[in-house]
Amino acid sequence: MCGIVGIVSKKYNILPSLIDGLKNLEYRGYDSAGVAYFINNNLKIIKEKGTVKNLENKIDFKEKVNIGIAHTRWATHGNANKINAHPHNVNHITIVHNGIIENCNELKKDLKDYNYTFKSNTDTEIACAYLSYCYDQNKNIHMTIERFMDKVKGSYAIALLIDNDDKNIYLLKKESPLIIGLGKDTNYIASDITAILNYTNKYISLDDFQYAKVNYKDILVYNKSGDVLKKKINEYKSKNIVTGKAHYKHYMLKEIIEQKKVISNTIFPYLEKGIKSLLKLPNLTKYNQINIIGCGSAMHAGLVAKYLFREFTNTKCEVFLASEFRYQNNFLTTDTFNIFISQSGETADTLQAAKLIKEKKLDSLGIINAKESSITKVVDTSLYIEVGPEISVASTKAYSAQVAILALLVLSHGYRNKTISSKQTESIINEFKKINVFINKMSNKKDQYKMIAKKIYKEEHAFYIGRGLDYALCMEGSLKLKEVSYIHSEAYAAGELKHGAISLINKNMPVFSSATNDKLNSKTVSNLEEVISRGANVFLITDDKNLIDKSYETIIIPNVSIFLKGILVVIPYQLIAYYTAVLKGTNIDKPKNLAKSVTVE
Ligand code: G6P
Repeated sequence: MCGIVGIVSKKYNILPSLIDGLKNLEYRGYDSAGVAYFINNNLKIIKEKGTVKNLENKIDFKEKVNIGIAHTRWATHGNANKINAHPHNVNHITIVHNGIIENCNELKKDLKDYNYTFKSNTDTEIACAYLSYCYDQNKNIHMTIERFMDKVKGSYAIALLIDNDDKNIYLLKKESPLIIGLGKDTNYIASDITAILNYTNKYISLDDFQYAKVNYKDILVYNKSGDVLKKKINEYKSKNIVTGKAHYKHYMLKEIIEQKKVISNTIFPYLEKGIKSLLKLPNLTKYNQINIIGCGSAMHAGLVAKYLFREFTNTKCEVFLASEFRYQNNFLTTDTFNIFISQSGETADTLQAAKLIKEKKLDSLGIINAKESSITKVVDTSLYIEVGPEISVASTKAYSAQVAILALLVLSHGYRNKTISSKQTESIINEFKKINVFINKMSNKKDQYKMIAKKIYKEEHAFYIGRGLDYALCMEGSLKLKEVSYIHSEAYAAGELKHGAISLINKNMPVFSSATNDKLNSKTVSNLEEVISRGANVFLITDDKNLIDKSYETIIIPNVSIFLKGILVVIPYQLIAYYTAVLKGTNIDKPKNLAKSVTVE
């Protein structure tokens, strides 16, 4: 939550790049934005409520600026308004902050005793006041930061400017991500690489309890005690992925359409030489149980894997919401394997759950998009999905790529534990090699999706019902619709509806379903009949042409192995949600109240 950008350059006029970087971070929060910079050695702070565009309108781009920090906010402490927007300034210190200061009330009380007063309701202003208080005592930024790190509890990525020091940006990091991008006569700071990819792909990432001093020439990274550290320079390589919106109106649409390419990118290394390549995936045969942990769409991808692990490899698999995992008895033993799924690699709940597993010295794997992100540093190893930056808040390509790589992990496990034969394995691998063709087919049915969107966009409620794998897919379909169109929707196990929720079915209520499993399809269709007879408007996704019926709309997917079906079913769900949101005129890439990278618990 919240995005930070900073630039310090030998040359003037960093303001356009600062704003450009901020716009690329808006997926982290977009309720207010602000910038602080030095001009002729004087500090200037500009803040606005709303998106970065509002801030941009207030900036004089003719000003000759070569050092500045900027912020886009997702409110935690204090409403979304101009006063609470970052940067915050107290005496000589100005900061932007991502994270939560957990002992802010205690700090505030102490600071009030020293006559500090506060304008905003934010924890950030308290952090700033505490930094200012420490700095005023010794005028030494190193001692100030060390003291701050000893005293302050919670998470923080902070970029800091000090009056009378218009050459340097200082950074502090604990639990919230912060990187330093290396350019020519210019250095950048950012919450993640997406903000600065237009300028550099080389970066250093800070670890917890590290801080840095950055000017246009030098980058010095220190540990808490002030020792200078040697840091690795990373290079971000994207596999032919077009950044920006290209010709699409929204990132969400661009990211749905590019799935055919990015999913192939993700899985190709595990397919190219058939089973030999597949066996590059981790060997799970020594474990008795697989746990999968994540939030939102990532957790939903885990549900698809759970179904496949149980059904086809005879392996116990459980899926946990990361926010619940930490606070319950999970019966963890040394023979449980723990998979953490996260697009951003920064989701606070998932990160904390991964730390818990590390503390218990249990084996773990991350399925992650953002390289060098916090979760990758906690788990034993990571498998990366190669989908490039996902900007739309509603996850699409990351979810599908997570499902694809998990399906291959299950396949490799089934091959290894002999629950899936070599012949079956090879045939599924061959189908996966053609996944781009199948995805393309599903993306091309736009007219049908638009027609469905037109039928449902005025409705207030919708249901998604299915059995087995289809139930897991319903959860993602339902989430997509509510996230971007604001239509209330619920995912239900098809057989459970009659135990209560069927009372909500009204005339014309949209009910989505998929039927991808011969063993369960007739039962699902019976459940659809039950809602049709109560007036519902049913939309069914299936590969079984025998299920086409006049009483509902059918979307046909290619007849492929169930290992691929999850990816194909979800594309109609994504596009229907998208076109419905278009008709409703919502803010599709940045839906209200949401943020993409949820770095608070
Ligand atoms: C937020 C996003 C979701 C995402 C979830 C988990 O809620 O809006 O789209 O699925 O976080 O994010 P992660 O980065 O851990 O996959």
